[in-house]
Amino acid sequence: MISSWLFIILAVLATFAPSILATDYVVGDDKGWTINFDYQAWARGKMLFVGDNLVFNYPKGVHNVYKVNGTGFQECSAPLDSVPLTSGKDVINLATSGRKWYICGVSRHCLDAGQKLAITVFPSSFAPSPSPTSEKSDRKFSAPSPSPTWGYSN
Ligand SMILES: *[C@@H]1O[C@H](CO)[C@@H](O)[C@H](O)[C@H]1NC(C)=O
Repeated sequence: MISSWLFIILAVLATFAPSILATDYVVGDDKGWTINFDYQAWARGKMLFVGDNLVFNYPKGVHNVYKVNGTGFQECSAPLDSVPLTSGKDVINLATSGRKWYICGVSRHCLDAGQKLAITVFPSSFAPSPSPTSEKSDRKFSAPSPSPTWGYSN
């Protein structure tokens, strides 16, 4: 009985731990997503992991959020066919690791007022409290253990 309850508790923890550990990062903190804010300084030293969220807070209609590539970040340009986030409380789930870039596409906010953000997202296995993935534990428990061959060899 006790061991089956323990198993259920562990299964529930394994399922929900990633979302419990996920962190919401409010871009610009209490200043939010705005012009003339140093987002490079804001991002410096932050360890963002896959599963974390970026929250862009701004007065709806005043700014927006485009996800762009490195070139778009440098040049403050978004692909013509891309659609910006405009809700004023935009939550972006960081689903993959790597370098990510975001700009404001309103007026010249990116070009003239530095409203652009570049971050690096790390794989979740680097997280401070790593939980073993099911893939790893499957492999660990199902690997055929080499049987002793004394007596059969030679
Ligand atoms: C970056 O995005 C621009 C459109 O904004 C596109 O023309 C360019 O090919 C992209 N560069 C890369 C490396 O994907």
